[in-house]
Formats: sequence, C-alpha cells, structure tokens
Amino acid sequence: MTSLVVSSGGDGYGFLVDEQGRLRQAGFGPGIDAHMERLPARVPPALYPLAFPAYDEEPTRAPSLRVTHSDGTTTTRLRVEDIRVVGPRTDVLLVDPDCPLEVTVSFKAEDHGVLRQWVTVTNRQSGPVTLHEVAAASPLLAAASPHLTHFGGGDWSAEWTATTEPLTPGTKVVDSRGGVQPHLRSCPFFLLAAEGSPEESSGGVLAGALAWGGNTRFAFERTGTPTVRVWCGHNPAGAEYVVDPGATFVTPEQIWIWSTEGVGPLSRRLHRWVREHATRDGDQLRPIVVNNWEATSFSFDTERLLGLIDHTADLGAELFLLDDGWFGGTHPRDDDTAGLGDWQVDEAKLPGGLGPLIRRADERGVRFGLWVEPEMVNPSSALHAEHPDWVVGQPTRRPRRWRHQLVLDVLQPDVADFVCGVVDRVLAENPGISYLKWDANRPLTDPGSPTLGADRQANFWVDHTRATWRLMETVAERHPEQTLMLCASGGGRVDLGSLRWFHEVWLSDNTDPVDRVRMQWAASQFLPANVVAAHVTREGDRPIAFGCAVAMSARFGFDLDFAGLTDDERTVCRRAVELYRQIRPLVQQGDVWRLVHPGASAALAYVSADGDQAVVFAFQLTTRTGDPGPLRPGGLHPDRTYQVVAVDLAGGSDTTRTDGGRQRGAVLMTEGLGWPLSEPCTARIWVLQSV
Ligand code: DGJ
Repeated sequence: MTSLVVSSGGDGYGFLVDEQGRLRQAGFGPGIDAHMERLPARVPPALYPLAFPAYDEEPTRAPSLRVTHSDGTTTTRLRVEDIRVVGPRTDVLLVDPDCPLEVTVSFKAEDHGVLRQWVTVTNRQSGPVTLHEVAAASPLLAAASPHLTHFGGGDWSAEWTATTEPLTPGTKVVDSRGGVQPHLRSCPFFLLAAEGSPEESSGGVLAGALAWGGNTRFAFERTGTPTVRVWCGHNPAGAEYVVDPGATFVTPEQIWIWSTEGVGPLSRRLHRWVREHATRDGDQLRPIVVNNWEATSFSFDTERLLGLIDHTADLGAELFLLDDGWFGGTHPRDDDTAGLGDWQVDEAKLPGGLGPLIRRADERGVRFGLWVEPEMVNPSSALHAEHPDWVVGQPTRRPRRWRHQLVLDVLQPDVADFVCGVVDRVLAENPGISYLKWDANRPLTDPGSPTLGADRQANFWVDHTRATWRLMETVAERHPEQTLMLCASGGGRVDLGSLRWFHEVWLSDNTDPVDRVRMQWAASQFLPANVVAAHVTREGDRPIAFGCAVAMSARFGFDLDFAGLTDDERTVCRRAVELYRQIRPLVQQGDVWRLVHPGASAALAYVSADGDQAVVFAFQLTTRTGDPGPLRPGGLHPDRTYQVVAVDLAGGSDTTRTDGGRQRGAVLMTEGLGWPLSEPCTARIWVLQSV
C-alpha cells in the first residue's frame, strides 16, 4: 500500500493507493501528516472514497470525470500508474487500463499555505474522446455541520453579495455562465466551514477559488454520511470538450487555503500570496485615480476633460482615467450604440486628439489612463462593415446583440491580431498613456467559431477563454510599463487566473458606498486591497466624507463631477487624498483585520507587517441598532505604545484630526477603541503609530 501526503504548510490531502491500484482519499484538511499517522491500521484502503472517481466508478455519487472514449465506451476506470514528486510539485498519473487515457492529478505547494491543483487529460486512443466534465479538484470534506459561503447576487451590480447557508443532503451548485463576464453572476470563490458558519477569528475554514476567467462550477454534494464532495472546475454546461489523439486538455487551477482559526488568518496569508504570485507588481503602491465615467458618461469634450484633469491635480490625485466614448471615427461613440471597434480618437469631440489632454496631465504631474474594450464591436462601426464575419456566432443564426454590441471571435487569428493591435496602436498613436482599463460589456451568446469543426463547436467555451487569456498575456508582455485594470461590466472578471496580467480589478458598477462596504468586505476575504479599485461617486447620494472613507479602505479613487461639488465637499476630498497618501502603504500592503461584520455598522483595520503602524476604519451604514463593541485590531506589538489619531473627514478644519492619546498595543488589542458613530453614513478613521 502506498500512502501519499500532498500539502502546503501542513494542510492538504492524504492519499492511499489500494490493492487494485486505485487512488483513495484518506484525508483533506489542516494537519494532514498527523491525520495520516492516526489512520487506523485495520481499515483497508479500499474503504476510503476514491480521490478522483470517474463516471461509473462510484455509481452513487457524481463523478469527477466523465468521458466518452473513441470506441463509444462511456465509463472510465482509473489506476495509479506513477507518482512523481519534484520539489513543491506532485503529479499522480492515473490511467485507464482498457481505454488508453491518462489523467494526471497535479498539485503545487506554494507560499503562505496555498495549494494549487489541476488535472491534465491526455488522449492515447486512435480517435477523439469527448470530455463531458472534468473537475480541476473534487476533494471529499469530512463535515458534521458544513456551511458554505458563496458570493454573487446573480447579476450586474450585485457582485460579491455573500450568502452563508448550511449544506443539506443533495447537491448545491454555484455556477457562472456568460463566458466573457461570468463572475457578474457568481464569483469563483467560496468558504467552507465544517462546523457551522465560518467565523472571523475562530474555527476551521477552507477557502477555494477557481483561477478561471470563463464559466465556473462549484458543486457541493452532501450525502447521508457526514461528508461533502466539493466539485470545482470550469462549467461543463454546453462545453463538452473533444480531445484529439495525442492531445491534452488541462483544466483551470483550483486554489486552496485553510485556517483553523477562522477566516482572518487565512485572508492575511492569501493576500500575501496574491500580491506575490497572482497579480502584477503586487508589491507596488497603486495610484489615486480620477475616472470620468460616472461624472460624464459619454458626454464630454476637451474642455470638460481638461477641467477634470485640473481637478485631479488640484486634489493631489495621481492619475486621470478617460473612460468610454473617446473614439469612433465615422461612427462616433456618443452612446453605446455605435463606434466599438473603431479605435481612432473622435476628433469632433476631441479636436487634436488625446494629445492636449495627455500634455495637460503631464504638465500637472498627473498620469494619463485610457479605457478600451478591444474584444467587442458595435454592428454600427466601420470594423463590422469591413469584417462582418469576425464575430462570435453560429452558421445558421444571426448573432444576438447585447448592449448593442457583438463579441469578436478571438479564435480567428486575424481577429486576435487585431485585438492586440488595438492596444499597440492606441498606445503608439497616443504617447504618454501609462494605464489601461480593459473592459468587456456583454456575455457570450451564440457560442461558435468557424475555426472549430462542426463536431467541435462545444470546445468554444474553453477555447475562447484561453484565447482571451493569450491576448491579455500578450498585451501585458508587450506593454510591461502599463498599469492594467480588468473590468467587465463591473466585476465580471474577478478571478485569480486573469489577475496575473493585471494590477487591479473593478469590483462592481455598484458604487453606493453602503453596498460597497459589504462588497469590499466580502472580496477582502480573498483579495488584498491593492487590487480592489474603489471610487467615490454620487451613487446612493451619500455624504462625500463617508464615500471617501469607504473608497480609502481599498485602492482609492474618484468618479465625480468635481464642478458640482460644494466647497466643503472639495475640502473633504482633498483631505481624503492627503490622508490616503499617508495610509496607502498600510491599506495596500498591510495585513487586514476585519473587526465588525457589516450589519448596521462595519469596521476593519490594516496593520503594517512590522506591527508598528495601523489604520482602523469604522463605518455606520444604517441607523445604529446597538453597540458594535470595541474595535480591537490585531498584529500590534503588545509592549509598544501607539499614538492614536482619530480622523473625521467630515469635521470642520479644527476637528478633523483629534489626538486620541497614547495607548499600549496590548490595551488596543484587548480593550480596543470605542465605537464613535451613531448617524447613518458616517465614518471614522484612526491612525496608529508606535512611538
Ligand atoms: C462598464 C464599466 O464597469 C464602467 O466602469 C464603464 O467603464 C462602462 N463599462 C463604460 O462603457
């Protein structure tokens, strides 16, 4: 009998190989070495569940893999052929002895207790095989009272809506569709606690994330036994994949991380991992951005933008981002019905092009950023008139429009060249741009491409995502000096795979700060604040000081018509920028401590890695219903003394910063700061500095 442990930081899987050579899972969770040592010797391996059951191997449970082989056989039997361990990487090679198919289950242990997992299927048959479904991971979790937290309100503007629910017998499926902006519907992240709801600072919890920019599927199959089979992978709906002889199919990667002390420690480790391994330049501070979209929509001209650039500089913000509507040629982009695909500056709107804007930004010491949506086309455009066959579609149908636009078929090499060329050209023709917002504003429909054979059209869903990733990779490689934001109608592409080519994501088009506190809170369980763009807008009509405080707890920016601000509001914005410059290293690089779970109130803190500095944010969202309790940030030095300064952005000039006295770290971490707020939509910020 072979036994195998695959772990990161001591957390992971324990496997056994039984007498028939089948891979069995004997454990999954923290402290896996000790767990494997405690396995009762008298229990034969064959009594443990299969680790990666193929269709018909475990007939009463959902399979991890379902294949139709080239001879029509619909069942698969997998036996361990080889186990290779090289450094942090483990590959378990499984083969079907009757229908030649190789299935390699791979793991990579990474820093901070993160374990990556994926599966590679190689067709060794003489004809094509069809993969109906193949999980990237499908562990079995022993759980007496499992509770799942998943994220997403099902549509645009409700991203990151958190739902925690007990898993009852049956299968709970959390999936996403739409191909191009699937995570609008459901974010590819979850938390799973074996005993009751996940807590912030106590109890066991597992976090899972599928690093995939396409459709995803998590299925939690609870049976009568106290176990949950957790199926994670790309969504197989309509996406059966045909693999040719000798070819391989690689699933997306599933990311795992565990904690025995609640979600907080898990988030702090995961944030470090994301900054170091899953995003670009994760150790660098992000600029304070002013975006024009919420302020102007498509209605702007050079004068209006110059005014916004001046406001950007006057505020002390660092980058002006020109959003949708700057291009269009013969089909001006005056609204969303026309112009996508025609990436020349609209000279009627912006005489002299972007040059005057970029020059003004440069003179005022502000960087210049630009919005693009390179994968899309309006039928009302010169591009579509010239290349009507460049769009995603099926031979017999007219492709459906969504937001008046169609999706370019990036599987066609000419189209892929065009999309990359858009970015190259725009940057070459408009020197001085150093930031791009890459947007995508419709889902895929009519999935199909002439590049795929008639019997391969279902490969489209996966191939389209891969082709889009290749474009993102090419753009990131060709333009390493550009800061890149990923946006898809809001948070439609927020995943740990796509992020590797981007510096930050737009979390949602919902910028009402009350909703945003909840969204940012949910996302903060997985994503560090430096990748979460958050802008102050008028949405929800909340006080500007409250909106600023909320946005300052992530990657800060504005999307405001500054001309419409009162003098007091402008003062608040200036103060906020000044304070953010001071606390930015804490927010963007510090460790997060979530202190009050958003209900009527919410609070969180960021603490520097050396424990010398911290910033605490408190938000009163609705009418206060009770005392949210003292705010006790962790990670401080118990024996050091901290100078506490309370900041009320809305206060008059003399009350903005209040000396909160000096306190020992131990006192701050046990007795904490008292809750100061009672009015809805108010905020307080404290800065703590060890002296
Ligand atoms: C959707 C984005 O989320 C918005 O921020 C904005 O860029 C619009 N698209 C522009 O069309």
